[in-house]
Amino acid sequence: MSKISDDKIKNICCLGAGYVGGPTMVVLADRCPKINVFVTDINEKKIAEWNSKDYNNLPVYEPDLDRLVKKNRGKNLFFTTNIKKAVENADIVFISVNTPTKTKGLGAGYASDLKWVESSARLVGEFAQGHTIIVEKSTVPVRTAELIKKIIKNFTRTNTKVNIKPKTFSVLSSPEFLAEGTAIKDLEKPDRVLIGGEDKDSLHILSLIYQNWIPKEKIFLTNLWSSELSKLTSNAFLAQRLSSINAISALCEKSGADVNEVSKAIGADTRIGSKFLNAGPGFGGSCFQKDLLNLVYLCRFYNIDEAANYWEKVIELNEWQKDRISKLIINVFFGTITSKKIVLLGFSFKPNTNDVRESPAISIALELIENGANLVIHDPKVTENQITENIGPNKRNSLNCESTDGSWSFTRNIEEAFTNADAGVIITEWEDYYKLDWLKISNFMRKPSWIFDSRGTISENDLNGTEINLWKVGKGFSLKK
Ligand code: UDX
Ligand code: UDX
Repeated sequence: MSKISDDKIKNICCLGAGYVGGPTMVVLADRCPKINVFVTDINEKKIAEWNSKDYNNLPVYEPDLDRLVKKNRGKNLFFTTNIKKAVENADIVFISVNTPTKTKGLGAGYASDLKWVESSARLVGEFAQGHTIIVEKSTVPVRTAELIKKIIKNFTRTNTKVNIKPKTFSVLSSPEFLAEGTAIKDLEKPDRVLIGGEDKDSLHILSLIYQNWIPKEKIFLTNLWSSELSKLTSNAFLAQRLSSINAISALCEKSGADVNEVSKAIGADTRIGSKFLNAGPGFGGSCFQKDLLNLVYLCRFYNIDEAANYWEKVIELNEWQKDRISKLIINVFFGTITSKKIVLLGFSFKPNTNDVRESPAISIALELIENGANLVIHDPKVTENQITENIGPNKRNSLNCESTDGSWSFTRNIEEAFTNADAGVIITEWEDYYKLDWLKISNFMRKPSWIFDSRGTISENDLNGTEINLWKVGKGFSLKK
């Protein structure tokens, strides 16, 4: 057992104060009161928001995050744009910058763009002092740690001549498995934590830090590449499960089976397990598609084409699911939804987050607008500006403004949204939507009225006494006479 203790660690710096870096560091600071945690970002506005007194407007929305920020900010938790100073003082630097799919160059459309990881490594190399442990938190392609090591090698000085202080590094991979919407819970009680690396002392120190709140048996020490690949593989397996149940949802709709009953039946088999079996409009979020594409790229790189094709199918199925739902809506209106008022309930990729990255709402909205519908979009947390960034400002219109050319508007008022609406589409299963008074809503709507429930949140009984026709994912149509 190494004699090194985590008492040596006084200051931690995190590069990137986004959906992963922000909540992860907030929980770390909360659970390690003796360590000062400096969360940095190149985006000054984001840091100002993290420092804002208005805890309802932190840049990331997660249940319980505001309470923890309030409790710890200014004590041992600091959000700063002074990246240089934070890195200089840090014993450990976490890299939590974004790694989007490359849009051009070699591997475009598949490989991750590592330019931010690279520039972060350079920055640490330049400013770090003494010995620094670099922890890869961002989800990265396998062997990214190699790239970081190569970069920092140029900055390493083992030389201890007068006036030249040594500067050394070790690189660890500790991918984050938190899911948005349950980030704080996932961070406080993770199923497991992975730490990959070769330097035993660094592995031990990071493990001791996690042990402040995570049982030792849940901390797995692996080699670097296993850790990186485990993260990609976890996300690929989860995504594959969703494509599997979504494929079955379409079969249920045709055959008269009910996907909820099928999910329950198969999930009761302990070998399969009951989680992650809810059929939906296709998975979204910043990770699943990106990580699958990465895995496909990696398999092709190593000439394992069959494996690459296998994982690529998971993405194709997901695209098909989104597409079939928008087509189905258009077909219900005999192929023409021009001037139809359609309410989209939910724009975030899942409930309890304001994140819209890769949300199925984006492609469904674009397809319906393209076909001439006037959309009214509602979401409890997502802002109108976020929607504009994702579906463009061109077709943005004021509420109830009719257009034959397709348009969208935004409201936080459900009744206003449904006034004279022809249809509603449930895209995100926000809790608020389970409590809707459909009888009342039905009175606001034009007849024939339709609800398309892509999340299976409504039961037929909820629509008793209304004139609403229902389509439900994995169940199909239930029509009023
Ligand atoms: C993370 C991971 O890093 C990504 O690899 C994973 O797949 C998804 O989760 P996330 O935290 O969700 O990304 O991204 P984002 O919310 O965009 O936050 C990244 C932050 O890093 C941004 O605020 C960006 O401004 C910041 N950044 C980026 C830096 O501070 N420095 C840089 O050099 C680049
Ligand atoms: C995922 C992984 O779960 C997490 O471990 C990893 O660190 C990051 O990627 P996240 O994308 O935040 O987390 O959310 P997740 O709960 O996995 O949902 C992803 C998508 O799948 C969402 O669009 C969600 O609506 C969808 N989903 C999830 C379903 O359609 N059905 C389900 O049963 C579960």
